[in-house]
Amino acid sequence: MPSAAELAKAHWNRTPLFFPEQQRYRIYPWLYDAAEFRKHRDQRVLEVGCGTGCDLLQFAKHGAIATGVDITQRHLELARQRVGSVAEVISADGSLLPFPSGSFDYVYSHGVIHHSDRPQLIAKEILRVLKPGGRFNVHVYARYSLAALNYVRRFGRDWKRHVENSVDPVYLDIYTGRDLRRLFPGIKLKLRKYEVPVPFRVFERWVGWFLVANGHKSS
Ligand SMILES: C[S@@+](CC[C@H](N)C(=O)[O-])C[C@H]1O[C@@H](n2cnc3c(N)ncnc32)[C@H](O)[C@@H]1O
Repeated sequence: MPSAAELAKAHWNRTPLFFPEQQRYRIYPWLYDAAEFRKHRDQRVLEVGCGTGCDLLQFAKHGAIATGVDITQRHLELARQRVGSVAEVISADGSLLPFPSGSFDYVYSHGVIHHSDRPQLIAKEILRVLKPGGRFNVHVYARYSLAALNYVRRFGRDWKRHVENSVDPVYLDIYTGRDLRRLFPGIKLKLRKYEVPVPFRVFERWVGWFLVANGHKSS
């Protein structure tokens, strides 16, 4: 049985996930604020699972000293092409980060932890590489969401194969706020949900597809 990391590499090497910037933030209009791209000028920012580098580039454009890590070779190549010299892109697994403790002011991760079968290790590494008082911002798929309900309705038991950009198998868990609190024990998390079809906007904070958690490493 391949590990989650092996599945991820096979999936995204075969079908890389690349969106031009304009398209990405048209699809996810909430992401610019939720990720806080504009709020980290001169800070050291790490993105875990930077994919093809679109979000990493936004941190850099807004003045952060940005570093991204990922495990998928093709994504790393596309990310390097996209960000050029304004951000660093490193091949590394989020569960074993090649940085000394306390290296970053802010760690961001969008759509990655739910593809890991070792999320506790990733969470531990995020906290280790944050400096005391540093903040993290992680985005995972929400168990209680209209999207999950819709996938189940459309595809039945096999629905998880239809979530990413191809039906190549990829590991996928869906999260509750409680699950995230377990990953970051003892840390007060601010939780919020985003992403619903337009007619359901008023319900977004309860049934959005992305569960976003913000927290501090204690000083
Ligand atoms: C759905 S893509 C999201 C990429 C990017 N964050 C975005 O939003 O476009 C998931 C990414 O997580 C990466 N990934 C999966 N497991 C990882 C791990 N353990 N460490 C680092 N990256 C990982 C994959 O290689 C892939 O690039």
